[in-house]
Amino acid sequence: MSQTTEPAHEPPPHPLALIDRARVLELLASHLSSAWASFDRPRPREPELAPDLVQRLSEPLPASPGDPEAALADIASALDASVSPARPLYAAYIGSTGLEAGVLAGALASAYDVNLAVTAGAAEMLESQTLRWVAEFVGYPQADGVFTSGGMTSNLTALTAARSRALPDCRRMGVLGCRAAVYCSDESHHSVARAVEVLGLGSEALRRIPIDAKRRMRVELLRRALAADIAAGVVPVAVVATAGTTLTGAIDPLDEVAEVCAEHGVWMHVDGAYGGPAAGEPGLAPQFAGIERADSLTIDAHKWLGVQKSCSLVLMARAGELEHAFAHDERYMLHAGVAANAVDRTLEYSRPVRSLKLWLAFRAYGAELMRAWIRETAAHAQRLGAALAAHADFEVMTEPSLSVVCFRHLPDRSASPAQADAHNLRLAQAIAADGRVYLAPAEVDGRTCLRVCFTNFRTAPAQVDELLSVVEELAATA
Ligand SMILES: Cc1ncc(COP(=O)(O)O)c(C=O)c1O
Repeated sequence: MSQTTEPAHEPPPHPLALIDRARVLELLASHLSSAWASFDRPRPREPELAPDLVQRLSEPLPASPGDPEAALADIASALDASVSPARPLYAAYIGSTGLEAGVLAGALASAYDVNLAVTAGAAEMLESQTLRWVAEFVGYPQADGVFTSGGMTSNLTALTAARSRALPDCRRMGVLGCRAAVYCSDESHHSVARAVEVLGLGSEALRRIPIDAKRRMRVELLRRALAADIAAGVVPVAVVATAGTTLTGAIDPLDEVAEVCAEHGVWMHVDGAYGGPAAGEPGLAPQFAGIERADSLTIDAHKWLGVQKSCSLVLMARAGELEHAFAHDERYMLHAGVAANAVDRTLEYSRPVRSLKLWLAFRAYGAELMRAWIRETAAHAQRLGAALAAHADFEVMTEPSLSVVCFRHLPDRSASPAQADAHNLRLAQAIAADGRVYLAPAEVDGRTCLRVCFTNFRTAPAQVDELLSVVEELAATA
């Protein structure tokens, strides 16, 4: 019997398929290379949107097909006029860096649109390998883990697992009437508080442990709080230590926290959303001693591992904890024998292959180059901190830690605290309006300051100096 391998005639393309794929890909390549070229150097000013594009951006829903080339050009112009953390003088909040490898992997991941909620074939191997690579990079003995949409979700995932261990009946019975507590430093990220609220424990279950002069959790106070709760019949669910606080980059004393957790058999979670990758840089690694003792660890790859949002992960020390927290039976998600489905281990259902961006970054650049870049960006913070400390008109609020510097402009030392706050807020607004440099205002010990966080491989030492000169220039008139 003969078999036909080729259809006699190609069916006409579906109207939803792009007609001239080669042409749009060429165009896309040219938009990408202009974007990358524009990230190579700081730009003197932000572009203005052309009036006709402004007008198009207020048009109603198109009813019929438009020209994809023109639409792509509009996207490129609008994005070019948007704030991108990929630019070398972006040092606000905690940026990524827009690694080019991540763009390529992101495009391929979108093209295949694999769903990791269900059995997905080889993409699962890519995801597992990336988890192992991150664990190896930071020195964490990982037995399980998942990629998530961000540090918030990773922290919530870990704390859900911790809650299931501490309160084994909570999935069935809820937590009403349970007296439980979660411990973190006074400067931990809000995602910890949000997770505690979402888990139904109530914000009063959060024990905010005061910090020391280096803005780290005071472990003797943690020990005291745990002992008091246990004596009062409160169940400790988890201690969240932060490895790189959002505000100042402080790293809680992980080894000491691990000791206290081990004494009481309490789950230790490390929120390394920002700082975690620095545990893989030998010069910074000693500050993270004890990270390997955590039950779970959050790392945002869309922060100091440089890939595009959203890409975070949570590593677990033991297999089975995620299943304990999330496994379920549904008529549309049958189990083959005893095998768990992917959604038995995650908070999310539909999930893209977020890991692919990081997988390609590790493959394309290798761990050593990634470590060198983390080292260089941390050195930028030291460089800026030293320049500010030597400058009569500036005050460094806290010793720079990891890649964060908090400082303020204080030209007139006799100014009242309120005047100094108002001046620094005006300065932050002037910097934002100017657009050459991006940094964010923040508050340290009740005082308004400017906060800089370096994560971008495109920032060179000369640009650290440039950042300071722009701030100086604008401070003169703020
Ligand atoms: C320490 C820390 N944890 C958690 C988060 C939340 O991460 P995401 O914004 O990825 O949800 C952040 C964000 O800055 C952070 O700095």
